[in-house]
Amino acid sequence: MPDYDLIIRNGNVIDGTGAPGHAADVAIKGDRIENVGAASGTAKREIDARGLAVAPGFIDVHTHDDAAVVRDPRVDFKIMQGVTTDVAGNCGAGVAPANDAFRLYYAAGFAPILGESSLPWSTTAEFFAAVDEAHPACNVAAYVPHGVVRYNVVGLNKGAPSDDELQRMRELVEEGMQAGAIGMSSGLVYLPGSNAETPELIELAKVVAKHGGIYTSHIRNEGDGVLAAVAEAITIGEAAGCPVQISHHKSAGPTAKGLTKQSLRFLAEARARGIDVTVDVYPYTASSSALAAMFRIGREQVFEAIPSIIASVKYEHEKYEGKYISDIAAELGMPIGDTVRKLLHDEENSPSVIMFIMDEEDVRRVVADEHAMIGSDGLPSEGKPHPRLYGTMARTIQRYVREEGVITLEDAVRKMTSLPARKHLLKDRGELRPGAFADVVVFNPETIADVATYAEPRQYPAGIEYVVVNGAVAVDQGRQTDARAGRMLRRA
Ligand code: ZN
Ligand code: CU
Repeated sequence: MPDYDLIIRNGNVIDGTGAPGHAADVAIKGDRIENVGAASGTAKREIDARGLAVAPGFIDVHTHDDAAVVRDPRVDFKIMQGVTTDVAGNCGAGVAPANDAFRLYYAAGFAPILGESSLPWSTTAEFFAAVDEAHPACNVAAYVPHGVVRYNVVGLNKGAPSDDELQRMRELVEEGMQAGAIGMSSGLVYLPGSNAETPELIELAKVVAKHGGIYTSHIRNEGDGVLAAVAEAITIGEAAGCPVQISHHKSAGPTAKGLTKQSLRFLAEARARGIDVTVDVYPYTASSSALAAMFRIGREQVFEAIPSIIASVKYEHEKYEGKYISDIAAELGMPIGDTVRKLLHDEENSPSVIMFIMDEEDVRRVVADEHAMIGSDGLPSEGKPHPRLYGTMARTIQRYVREEGVITLEDAVRKMTSLPARKHLLKDRGELRPGAFADVVVFNPETIADVATYAEPRQYPAGIEYVVVNGAVAVDQGRQTDARAGRMLRRA
């Protein structure tokens, strides 16, 4: 009998805590790491990691893979970039709970972000069971999405809910938390979340706090009003008594350039007052979202000012995927506003869009912040999705470690592993140490690179050699295996 199932030998072990890398072997038995050090003994399989970095599997803290992990459980776009855990249910968007009204709304309201789903479940617990049954290749943790909860109860109604409605929303959040959700997310620029006012969010966050969960938010304004919007998120967490995460932190649009300097200082001040508030960020200057939502917020002016690409459509205009809206407008001989209106009309609000809305300085500043973790915000849609879906983790290392030296390799790994694991209550994940789950990525720090582009996003990153999920080898010499060893991670 061999002593272990797998030994990864001779690699530079970067344990996820931020500690300096060191030469060591990682010995795995079943789904756990048994030993990190010089492994004597034998194993059923050995991997020689000489010249390679061995790190905890990456945790993608901001995903919209709720429907994808059931629809497409290989989740190749995640596994192939070294992601072993996906955190879903972000931005108030998701697939559960689902009543009949929400099922009808989903196709136009949420599918542009999450992709298609028939939502064959009603409760969060049933959705989590469906994830387990789908056997995704990576682990999944999830938030209860506030926008979904709200739609289930009041549809697109504006303003404060009645006492009765608020009570029903509380019950849906409670059900999700009992099912093992890690907290509640909100998306306060998207319908229906944008219809909610602060007191409602506080009341619902109290349910989350009772279970020890966290409140995460796509805040109400990421442009000129970003500071007030960050303040709202902090107020909600403080009033409810739960930790706060600001989603895909940025300052968006030419007039908001540089505002991350103030927002990060503001967040540091809140932490100094004892508030647990952190952020996630994706390493690109372009955002991506539903075209309908962005048009609702910014009208034609925003698309006249900001270079934007159509990423995906549902029906006939496939030829426009990957094209600039300005080029489509020129081709149609129409003003930009009318072009967007036509696309929204013809495609029943289904298109998603990529917008070059950020300044590199701001992205770099947020990535470098000690309390920032990496989250892709990838949209697993058809067509030509934002390349962050495929390239986020590799790009963080390639660009901000190797090319720019903004952070160290150990820092980058920490932002993708222990930092998100601790904040998101992912027990025994995000670190390479005896007793932790055997989620591991082995990569070449000299060649790791984001290969996906806006024109050709469906490309796996370079330099990811091996990925192990719960002890099973999911990527072997750069190729995805048939292993589907992921689990639904329920809050303990
Ligand atoms: Zn968002
Ligand atoms: Cu998002």
